[in-house]
Amino acid sequence: MVGPPATPLTFGRYEALFHVASGGMAEVFAARLRGPHGFEKLVAVKRLLPSLSDEQFVTMFLDEARLAANITSPHVVQTLELGRADDDGALYIVMELVVGATLFDLCVTSLDHLGATPIAAMVEIVAQAALGLHDAHEARTPTGQPLHVVHRDVSPQNILVGLDGRVRVTDFGIARAVLRHTHTRAGQLKGKVAYLSPEQAAGEALDRRSDVFALGVVTWEALTGRSLFNTGDPVETVRRVREIRIPNVRELRHEVPEEVDRVVAWALQRDREARCPSAAEYAAALRAALPSRPSTAELSALVAEHGGENLARIQEQISEIHAGGDRTVMRPPPERSGPRIVPEAEPEERLIGPSERPPPPAPPPPQPTAAPPKQRDLSTHLVTPERLEVSMGRSRPMPRRGGLKLALVLGVLAWVGAAAVAWWALGSGGSSREGPVLRDPGGAEP
Ligand SMILES: Nc1ncnc2c1ncn2[C@@H]1O[C@H](COP(=O)(O)OP(=O)(O)OP(=O)(O)O)[C@@H](O)[C@H]1O
Ligand SMILES: [Mg+2]
Repeated sequence: MVGPPATPLTFGRYEALFHVASGGMAEVFAARLRGPHGFEKLVAVKRLLPSLSDEQFVTMFLDEARLAANITSPHVVQTLELGRADDDGALYIVMELVVGATLFDLCVTSLDHLGATPIAAMVEIVAQAALGLHDAHEARTPTGQPLHVVHRDVSPQNILVGLDGRVRVTDFGIARAVLRHTHTRAGQLKGKVAYLSPEQAAGEALDRRSDVFALGVVTWEALTGRSLFNTGDPVETVRRVREIRIPNVRELRHEVPEEVDRVVAWALQRDREARCPSAAEYAAALRAALPSRPSTAELSALVAEHGGENLARIQEQISEIHAGGDRTVMRPPPERSGPRIVPEAEPEERLIGPSERPPPPAPPPPQPTAAPPKQRDLSTHLVTPERLEVSMGRSRPMPRRGGLKLALVLGVLAWVGAAAVAWWALGSGGSSREGPVLRDPGGAEP
């Protein structure tokens, strides 16, 4: 018997053109809005997995996402629209399409190509991301009420660098809703706990300084090419966030200028009172720490050269569309569709990680639009300071040890525990409140 045919994937007025990338809780598509007289606009649509669509989550998510719509900054990905799919109820966010690379991709590709990340470019990218965060921290309602926005999920995957040489931060407010959601899977937390601030890990009230700390971790990693806290095991990662001695960047990479090292260490102070107080000050201090800063054209060239395979694929697809090619993402027929439109590719284990992790689930059959496999966290690319004996770059995968079964069982148990820890730490943030982060003027955002 032949089932119903596949249908074009649409999001309200937007038709999906190709798959851009997938994250732990969502898929991102390039989509097109067609208007009268040949008007066309390409956008990015982030489709959250349908499991994240029960009423409690939807309310929380929409409250947070409405907040993000109040942020205007050249260094924040612009949110254009929010919606909910008619057929499966999946939430989606329509946003500016950034043709470029994530800071994560740039780090990995430049480590591969050059053996190290370019210091000045990394510093400038983080400085621009800090400016975006600062604009968000300062965001107000149209009537001037401060919103006390805290991003909560600053990570190298959420920092996009466009081919235009401009840096934008994305995913504002989403973390809060996702992490409070009872069905959030441990796998979706894996990358997130690596950038927790100590106060987040302790479940305390948060303010903008929490994002400064997370950006400090991002800077540390971008400059050293190693992961600071991440071990791939969320419970151990959270312990490290709270306890380990944080090495100075120059202990791992001597050519980083002393002043840059000092500024990064300032952002990484566990004591909030001693930490760099705002993202704007962090940006200014980073820029002042370098003799000269890379131009927009230089950042653009860096992205063009080291943006990675995903960027090359996206550029190709956009060229085809501009040349009049018809590309449409088809929604698989209901009997074949899982939670994702594009099945998850098997993670690529190119480089060594600090810990043995459970293998990914068996990959579903490949689809023609599937993006190349994408690494979900830095731990498999970058090694922890304790493992300096392991070379960075093209190291061979760690041989599978005996007792793997036991390790897997322990791993799964640890992950379930971690889900609880991180839900408490990130989601509740010490607050009994849910919903919008709209606060009384002057009130700290819990
Ligand atoms: N506006 C955008 N324009 C272009 N590419 C984007 C845009 N937003 C996201 N992407 C790409 O899609 C990927 C997946 O995004 P998504 O936010 O779902 O996952 P993530 O940030 O990698 O991880 P997480 O699930 O923790 O948020 C990003 O890493 C990035 O490569
Ligand atoms: Mg993201």
